[in-house]
Amino acid sequence: MADTRTFDEEARAILTGNDRGRYTVPTDGLYPYQWNWDSVFAAWGFADFDVDRAWTEIETLFSGQWPNGMVPHILFHKSDPGYFPGPDVWGCFEAGVTGPVPSSGISQPPIAATFIRRIFEADPDGKERLRSLFPRIVEFHRWFMTWRTDQGAVCITHPWESGRDNAPDWDGAMSAIDPVGVGEYKRRDTSHVDPMMRPTKEDYDRYIWLVQRGRRLGWDEAKLAEDRPFMVADPTMTFTLLRSNRDLAEIADVLGEDRDEIDAWTEELEAGALTLWNDVLESYDSRDVVTGEFAQSLSNASFLSWWAGIDNPRMLNQLERVSDAAPFAVASYDPEGPKFNPQRYWRGPVWGIMNTMIGIGLEDCGHIEEAERLRATTRRLIEENGFAEYFDPMTGAPAGGSRFTWTAAIWLGWLSPRDGRE
Ligand code: DGY
Repeated sequence: MADTRTFDEEARAILTGNDRGRYTVPTDGLYPYQWNWDSVFAAWGFADFDVDRAWTEIETLFSGQWPNGMVPHILFHKSDPGYFPGPDVWGCFEAGVTGPVPSSGISQPPIAATFIRRIFEADPDGKERLRSLFPRIVEFHRWFMTWRTDQGAVCITHPWESGRDNAPDWDGAMSAIDPVGVGEYKRRDTSHVDPMMRPTKEDYDRYIWLVQRGRRLGWDEAKLAEDRPFMVADPTMTFTLLRSNRDLAEIADVLGEDRDEIDAWTEELEAGALTLWNDVLESYDSRDVVTGEFAQSLSNASFLSWWAGIDNPRMLNQLERVSDAAPFAVASYDPEGPKFNPQRYWRGPVWGIMNTMIGIGLEDCGHIEEAERLRATTRRLIEENGFAEYFDPMTGAPAGGSRFTWTAAIWLGWLSPRDGRE
């Protein structure tokens, strides 16, 4: 066993190195702003050694909440020319729809309530901070239920909203977009990271085209909803909101607040999760809302069902199969599927944060052996390859950005062999 103290210390050093005062960047260079779900993981990591800083991270994130309830996927606290597309491309602040912080115009997987609950458990004295966040989280969930559901499943309107930018899940819906008039632009991501590990230009043209459309419509949800060029019901969004919503109801109890509306959302989301089951694939899958077609993509998001408290035995069979096919499970796309690429971002690589949510979900559903196996694999990935953004599931080789905030956070939150987690 490696010197665990060194890994704990290294993880803390990464978090403090990426700390910009009141928020944390995912990694220096590639991602120089505050990203929504990265930031929530950062807060969880801080809760291990500086719980006050953990609360501050979440409070900064919610300081960027829009008046309509959305918490954006990026908060551009101060401009950085090393990133594209920046605040000027999104144009949300100019449209007058943001809160006080310039931001992107979409959201990201709503994991906040789940980790806020964990931070409160680490700091029961933080009840007043929890109380002031509560109505904001309710507004955030209400925004999803109002603008992002189809038959109770939670949808994305841009691949970036899912956090799984170039997953094969979106290929069908993306191919329906003709990115006409998108114009010239200069990507920045490929100057930080090997282009082989990043989305293709075909994908990027469509990402930018969707941003330009949002800007043209003033980021007005009602106008954007009139005609959806891209809307896909997504397991990541559905399963994370379902779990967060259950956690929000528990938070309501702690605070003595009413939980009826929240419980009604849970029922709706549970029904929505059922609509993601693809019998042909024998898995949870993404569903194109425009065409009604499933993506036929078994991904690591399919396995977040346990995270949402849904224990479907058929997913255990799938987990065993994909773990046999790629030694460093869980690949972000089926290693036996036709689109598998072990290096390209969400088309194959293994992501520690997804493993952590899958593992905690397995644990919660009583699948202790499977959870322990996943924890051991994920721990080994980091011990042998460092705190990378993601890893090759066949070889374990590190990929994407390095000294990555969320990889450090999951080490502290779930992987470090302290506290009898051997
Ligand atoms: C990026 O810039 O690659 C991000 O994933 C968008 O959120």
